[in-house]
Amino acid sequence: MLDNIPSEIPPENLAALAEDHYFAANPPPRDLDKHVALARDFIDYHSSAGRRLVLITSGGTTVPLEKQTVRFIDNFSAGTRGATSAEYFLEAGYAVLFLHRQFSLLPFSRHYSHATDCFLDFLREGPNGSVVARDEDTAKMLHVLRKYRDARDRNMLLLLPFVSISDYLHELRSVAQLMRPLGPRGLLYLAAAVSDFFVPPERMSEHKIQSTSAADVFKRNNNGGSQAATEEEETFDNFDSSPSVPRSKRLVIDLDPVPKFLKNLVEGWSPQGMIVSFKLETDPAILVHKARYSLDRYQHHLVIGNLLSTRKWEVVFVSPGNPDHWIRVPFRKHGGESGTSVAGTEQDEPIDPKSLPEGEPEVEIESLIIPAVQELHSKYIRTVEDKGQP
Ligand code: PMT
Repeated sequence: MLDNIPSEIPPENLAALAEDHYFAANPPPRDLDKHVALARDFIDYHSSAGRRLVLITSGGTTVPLEKQTVRFIDNFSAGTRGATSAEYFLEAGYAVLFLHRQFSLLPFSRHYSHATDCFLDFLREGPNGSVVARDEDTAKMLHVLRKYRDARDRNMLLLLPFVSISDYLHELRSVAQLMRPLGPRGLLYLAAAVSDFFVPPERMSEHKIQSTSAADVFKRNNNGGSQAATEEEETFDNFDSSPSVPRSKRLVIDLDPVPKFLKNLVEGWSPQGMIVSFKLETDPAILVHKARYSLDRYQHHLVIGNLLSTRKWEVVFVSPGNPDHWIRVPFRKHGGESGTSVAGTEQDEPIDPKSLPEGEPEVEIESLIIPAVQELHSKYIRTVEDKGQP
């Protein structure tokens, strides 16, 4: 965090200062150079073909509590939004650079990697020791496999993983900067659930944070020779009030705010690409306000607002100069008269989650989001090309 900012620094330079400070203090991920080389080739290839390219960020970001990380803070995101969107962007002709949290859902394989049905459930033994898809799954699996192979064979999909919040930010900055040659044909679609808080390296423990004082006693007693301390830890229980027994420690975690790099992205890293950010809230009363605030503050091109409980059913598009635009999958109201359905954009308030049917929607909302984003992107490209300005 930036403490003691010299008063002579003008406010407009604060974002650059925060950026320099953050990236100097937080080391890059080990594979950054390798990822940058892959991303550069991918972007150059599609840039020279005059193709549109979308950078999708997807999944959660971890916040390590130790340098040799045993424990970390995480969030709920499985990467469904990002992985599903990637498939619809490919369908729309975009090249997709998929920057995702390691082990979160991937485009295409997501159909077979969710928690309820293990991928082995889709397979059976075939003749002569072969493994084949179950008959009832073959048609869909073939369809998905063909689409995946086609995307890979035509070099339309590049997958780059990250783990922690700092890995994510290093990767995002590098890839966004590489996207400059695409001009307005570049699209940044920031669906990852990015942590707002982190432990700065100067306050991060090198080793596993201890839950008792036993290790301190052990270290004090001549560098690891004390049998007594080990025994104390092993015999420790929370009900022994003897002062000779190490106490269980409280762990108070003091987190700094992660700088909001959306400003740097808009102004410096990718000044010509169209930038779409997501806004996640849990309180319906503030969603649109927060989305509009984010748009005003960062001056980018579109905020897609969504609520945790209804994010697969509806989203709201908030963009400059346009009224809020709700996108919904059609559904029958839970407990309502049969045949009652709410669809499209006619209701301009968030849906009451209690009125939603049980289970997943029949239509993937990304199948409606991506064409709408594509339309705005086309408009954006025309504006930049006609006027030389976004
Ligand atoms: O993966 P799923 O389970 O399908 O869930 C999808 C989703 C709900 C995660 C996705 O649709 C979504 O809303 N993603 C954005 C979540 C988020 O980070 O929201 P936010 O309100 O905390 O941040 C708003 C914007 O600020 C984001 O675009 C983010 O990139 C940016 N940000 C956030 C934190 C931070 N430290 N710096 C940022 O620049």
